[in-house]
Amino acid sequence: MKFDTPATQNPIDQLKVVGQGLDRIDGPLKTTGKAPYAYEHHDTVPDAAVGYVLGAAIAKGRIGAMDIEAARRAPGVLAVVTAQNAGKLGKGKMNTATLLGGPDIQHYHQAIALVVADTLEQARAASRLIRVQYERAAGAFDLAAAKRGADNAGKKGRDHAGGNAGKPDRVGDFERAYVAAAVKIDHTYRTPDHSHAMMEPHASTAVWEGDALTLWTSNQMIDWGRSDVAKTLGVPKEKVRLVSPYIGGGFGGKLFVRADAVLAALGARAARRPVKVALPRPLIANNTTHRPATIQRVRIGATRDGKITAIAHESWSGDLPGGKPEEAVQQTRLLYAGANRLTVQHLMELDLPEGNAMRAPGEAPGMMALEIAMDEMAEALGLDPVEFRVRNDTQVDPAAPERPFSQRRFIECLRTGAQRFGWAERSARPGARREGRWLVGMGMAAAFRNNLVTDSAARVRLDAAGQVIVETDMTDIGTGSYTIIAQTAAEMLGVPLAKVIVRLGDSDFPVSAGSGGQWGANSATAGVYAACQKLRTVVLERLGFAAEGAVFAEGSVTDADGRKALLRQAAADGELVAEDVLEFGGLDKTFQQSTFGAHFVEVGVDAYTGETRVRRMLAVCASGRILNPKTARSQVIGAMTMGIGSALMEELAIDQRAGFFVNHDLASYEVPVHADIPWQEVIFLDETDPASSPMKAKGVGELGLCGVGAAIANAIHHATGVRVRDYPVTLDKLLAGLPQPPVAGRFPPAASP
Ligand code: MOS
Repeated sequence: MKFDTPATQNPIDQLKVVGQGLDRIDGPLKTTGKAPYAYEHHDTVPDAAVGYVLGAAIAKGRIGAMDIEAARRAPGVLAVVTAQNAGKLGKGKMNTATLLGGPDIQHYHQAIALVVADTLEQARAASRLIRVQYERAAGAFDLAAAKRGADNAGKKGRDHAGGNAGKPDRVGDFERAYVAAAVKIDHTYRTPDHSHAMMEPHASTAVWEGDALTLWTSNQMIDWGRSDVAKTLGVPKEKVRLVSPYIGGGFGGKLFVRADAVLAALGARAARRPVKVALPRPLIANNTTHRPATIQRVRIGATRDGKITAIAHESWSGDLPGGKPEEAVQQTRLLYAGANRLTVQHLMELDLPEGNAMRAPGEAPGMMALEIAMDEMAEALGLDPVEFRVRNDTQVDPAAPERPFSQRRFIECLRTGAQRFGWAERSARPGARREGRWLVGMGMAAAFRNNLVTDSAARVRLDAAGQVIVETDMTDIGTGSYTIIAQTAAEMLGVPLAKVIVRLGDSDFPVSAGSGGQWGANSATAGVYAACQKLRTVVLERLGFAAEGAVFAEGSVTDADGRKALLRQAAADGELVAEDVLEFGGLDKTFQQSTFGAHFVEVGVDAYTGETRVRRMLAVCASGRILNPKTARSQVIGAMTMGIGSALMEELAIDQRAGFFVNHDLASYEVPVHADIPWQEVIFLDETDPASSPMKAKGVGELGLCGVGAAIANAIHHATGVRVRDYPVTLDKLLAGLPQPPVAGRFPPAASP
């Protein structure tokens, strides 16, 4: 089915099942521990040996010599795989560094060996017996230093294939308009490297049958993964099966196959036995990908009444040679009006581990900078931050006025949020509200994330019992895919949810959009919609009913002439099967498709210690039809929680001498816990977007994160008067600007925030 004209009325609009806040259909499997994750296919693969990954102890250089003999002879060891004995390996399209390093080392903890043994303990102990002689080379690990070097050399970073690094994107004449602007700001912001820190580590179980490989793995994108495994191992794609039915979080860290998958396959081949590999937690931060740090300069010029006339956003980020920049300026091309615009992304070559997508790549760190800048500009203008944003709304792409947004209810998000949060009670003056030792402030920020669409296919079966079975290689990374796909099929075929079985995450199934870029829910259900439309046609043909005006409801089919049959009667002589792919035409070109929102936050900052506690949070989202308000809300409150992490805690600290992330485990890479999370509320505007898909839905899972960090930073500024432009906003950055502590012994009692 081709989707190239905006959707009209269709069966989804009935909203009997779709749009309902139903519980997850996979919930009981998960809460009872019966959903098998990639490392837990003990029933299917009872004889798996265990592989343990050894990571490089240098960031850059070569392995001069490697002695694996002692490891090979250690108790229980079945095989030791290294680049030297693994045979020629290719490189996946989605990987910047190779997944099995040696002799050249590209980054710290790059895998250099896999030890396979009967038990994990044996494999781990044997890995310690491997002797490696490194020839260390000097590397670049400091983004700020790399930027300074490039600035001084007058170079603007390097060009790369996937974007416009170093090449400015211009509308009008920014420089002239900025100079002429009555009110202006010019500030530089920093966001650190982030780790995905998902609960389930990267894990894979590999089984060879002859020359055919089955890989149970934790992966968001089955077809990308299948292609990259085939390419890396040099085997035909048809010989590789990827199975990923349950995933314990990904956040973009599992968009690509990583060392666990490739090494499990190599280990199983070498040991002639199934092998499972989980990346130990302390290996993940440096061995896999991370969200790259950014330095972002934002300049805004406006008239005295708050109309933006000039806006520039420049971003610097780093990656390994051949990598990509963090697309942190994306939203600045679209979010606010202004005739003169400049955006540019500079890519610096660094020898840190591979940078790549993490939840809302681009907008997440980009909004952390832009939305503080908007707050600073509102302050410079003496305008309320909500009002300032309202004044600079645009209903068209500012770079291409003939291109409207398909839907843009940004102002309504701002106004609804302000009203609901009690924004009117906020004093315009920072530092005005104090409760005991707590300085209390409110901040807000816009939310913005583009709506991407990706072709998606599905197969739907109807059996003689009236059971509907949906098969697609779509994944559920904790987002609710199983449930919204079941809702879609139930709505389309007029059956109760309990009559639908959903099978996901298997490369034997039709190729879906996968879980990435917040395109999964809308795109994958649209693929299921297409397959169900086809099945409806097959059913009507089988029943001899006219297609025009037929109704599928309550397990029955009725045609325009009033003839009625049970749905299952159509399959009485054998199962009916329909498969289709929803192909997105050019509607994402005709219309700018984006999702919008507003975040409101109240914080308390301890006047003496600088400790920040978030007290209240509200997100208002406009992102098309909400397929399931319960799973969608969970996505948004999860994202708001992640936003607290990026505002206050998360930072991969770099050892500048050795070139690695020091805090590479969950004891030292801090993420929010339950005690950090306050009252949270989410409001979805009631809307549909007919240009985005037949589902009229859009993404929301990443939108919920975009802007949260800035809303918190802005609230901290409002509470304290201290402006921090360097994330995370930790207490050491606040202390110097806080009120003087009182004399010893006269400390007000600590109160809960
Ligand atoms: Mo998302 S960072 O594309 O999984």
